[in-house]
Amino acid sequence: MRATAIAQPNIAVIKYWGKRDVERNLPAVGSISLTLSTLYTEMQVEIDTALADDVLSVNAVENRSLLARVSNCINIVAGVDRPAVRVSSRSNFPIAAGIASSASAFAALVVATDAAFGSSISRDRLASLAGRASGSAARSLLGGFVELDNDADDIRINKLLGAADWPLEIMVAITAPGPKPLSSGDAMEISRRTSCFYDRWIEQQAADLAEARAAIRQRDLQRLGAIAEHNCLKMHSVMWSSRPPMIYWNSATIACMQTIRELQAKGVEVFFTIDAGPQLKAICTAADASTVRAALSATEGVVEVMQSGIGEGARLVNA
Ligand code: PMV
Repeated sequence: MRATAIAQPNIAVIKYWGKRDVERNLPAVGSISLTLSTLYTEMQVEIDTALADDVLSVNAVENRSLLARVSNCINIVAGVDRPAVRVSSRSNFPIAAGIASSASAFAALVVATDAAFGSSISRDRLASLAGRASGSAARSLLGGFVELDNDADDIRINKLLGAADWPLEIMVAITAPGPKPLSSGDAMEISRRTSCFYDRWIEQQAADLAEARAAIRQRDLQRLGAIAEHNCLKMHSVMWSSRPPMIYWNSATIACMQTIRELQAKGVEVFFTIDAGPQLKAICTAADASTVRAALSATEGVVEVMQSGIGEGARLVNA
């Protein structure tokens, strides 16, 4: 009747931006991500037949604004004809600020809901259900290096490498911890309708995925970095060329990019990626982690640097 699950956010090196089916929230493109280890969202779902409606608390504070999205996701897993639940979510990092908090939240939510209702849904199916709430959440069902494929009229997730197979480190340079002005779901629809670069973005994704897959199999950080930075900047070009334009960066985001370029010029093995928010994520070898962390921490406008290795997929914690 009660279950708790934990999931880690994931950072895409080949991005998802655009939907092919808005109703079912199906992505227009495949994507590849790394699941993190130290950042997490824990979700508890408790069936409470005394309640008339679902109740949600986020970090111990009742939250009504996210309740509809959470209740919908629970309906997708447990069906609409179900008793009300009490949901408590706890995260150790800022939410809705472009650090993939919806990915870890919905991945943990589908796993906890499945266990609380005793539904025994397969992991592949849970990924597909999490993806309806947040496209990137499907990837957090697995650990390590994860590819999300478009598969007929659904999605499929595949582990390309396990967490221990290539122990990279990820730094998240926080430049503004506040919530973003526009959700990525709404923003990518604006891009699909209005960006003159959108079709080219979709057209080139298969080649970017193939290049990143090969780089990951070879554990070649420079090769992966080259395609990941290209893919990230292409996604931001789509955002910038949308109407209205969507610019998630601030001056510190650009200063961080400059820092990464300076490190690369000195031979440090590192590359960057940026999502729908102003935080920059740097991915580097474990040997270079302290150099990268120090350089980002010293960059003008960086409020905090969070560090993570590569982690496991969503799982129950009370089983
Ligand atoms: O899953 P959503 O709807 O939050 O969209 C994620 C979009 C990006 O983070 C910008 C890219 C990605 O692939 O994670």
